[in-house]
Amino acid sequence: MRLWFAALFAAVSLCYASEGVSEAKLKNVFKDDFHIGAAVNRSQIYGRDPKAGVLLAEQFSSITPENVMKWSSIHPKPDEYNFEPADKYASIGEENSMFVAGHTLIWHNQTPDWVFENADGSEVSRKELLKRMREHIFKVAGRYKGRVHGWDVVNEAIEDVGSLRNTKWREIIGDDYIAKAFEYAHQAAPDAELYYNDYNMYRSEKRKAAAELAEKLQSRGLRIDGIGIQGHWGLSHPSAAEIQKSIDAFSSLGLKVMITELDLTVLPSAWEHRGADISQNYELRKEINPFPDGLPANMQSKLSNRYQQLFALFTRNSGKISRVTFWGVHDGCSWRNNWPVSGRTDYPLLFNRNCEPKPAFNAVVKAGRK
Ligand code: XIL
Repeated sequence: MRLWFAALFAAVSLCYASEGVSEAKLKNVFKDDFHIGAAVNRSQIYGRDPKAGVLLAEQFSSITPENVMKWSSIHPKPDEYNFEPADKYASIGEENSMFVAGHTLIWHNQTPDWVFENADGSEVSRKELLKRMREHIFKVAGRYKGRVHGWDVVNEAIEDVGSLRNTKWREIIGDDYIAKAFEYAHQAAPDAELYYNDYNMYRSEKRKAAAELAEKLQSRGLRIDGIGIQGHWGLSHPSAAEIQKSIDAFSSLGLKVMITELDLTVLPSAWEHRGADISQNYELRKEINPFPDGLPANMQSKLSNRYQQLFALFTRNSGKISRVTFWGVHDGCSWRNNWPVSGRTDYPLLFNRNCEPKPAFNAVVKAGRK
């Protein structure tokens, strides 16, 4: 019997070792390091992008809902919850034994105006908004108890300069709206991990503010399990050293670190801003959309080198990083085609518009096998 197992083990290992780069599966390559995830959109959830569906099952060990669990989608009207797409999303995770992420409970974007208003259009009181927040978190996080394994409880609450963002949540409730969200999320889904998630975390002021926010929650006896670094980056920015500092700062607080929304734009910067404040959108101009018909080889190789550099960094930090999630499955469905400028053709992910692996995919596999 023992011999039989040994033979089987040897055969499986041989098979794995001989798996060429082109047949490699990200989730296998990084299985001892961290989960490898992808954001899934509504049409993928409904099976209308079958090639992406195959990739998801084959390549990824985790999923994040790109939009279907955001307030405006899951709770569009005061007494109306739209759980169907989110239910299907959770089922996809279960069918494929994935780590299922929830995104996001409290955010200033994609949250309907009615949340902050009375029936007559006047602003709700702190008490009423806390009641609505609690109800929403209990309904949503409560429904997926045991099915969603980690929640982005609060998303993007900090400005680049390190101050708290002035959102309706903060204006009406006060600075403790963040603590309240974590308190309710813990009550509603005690077994799910709870995260704070934001972009531009490589900026020292923002990194410091996020670390302080987490410490404050911890000192109030509230549970926070991890911090998500979004990762909407470019070919040379931010530097590996800056990313390393954020990984260290967050993990030194005993928190899991996740790269939650990784995509690398290859397009010229439309303006100085490099973050992900989606409220800004600029008119399309030819010079900022240089590759409408395909990515030239020299750009493919720049993208590959950058991905290789980043995954070398991530694997060196595998003890601190629990998940690396791409913001999308393939280039065709990436939000970066429409942000910060709509109607461009970008190439930020590892799979092309036909769901085939790009040179960057091979570079990531190589970085993972070192
Ligand atoms: C984006 C989605 O990708 C788009 O489809 C949607 O139109 C806007 O939101 N930070 C986040 C994500 O936390 O939820 C955002 O996702 C990208 C920026």
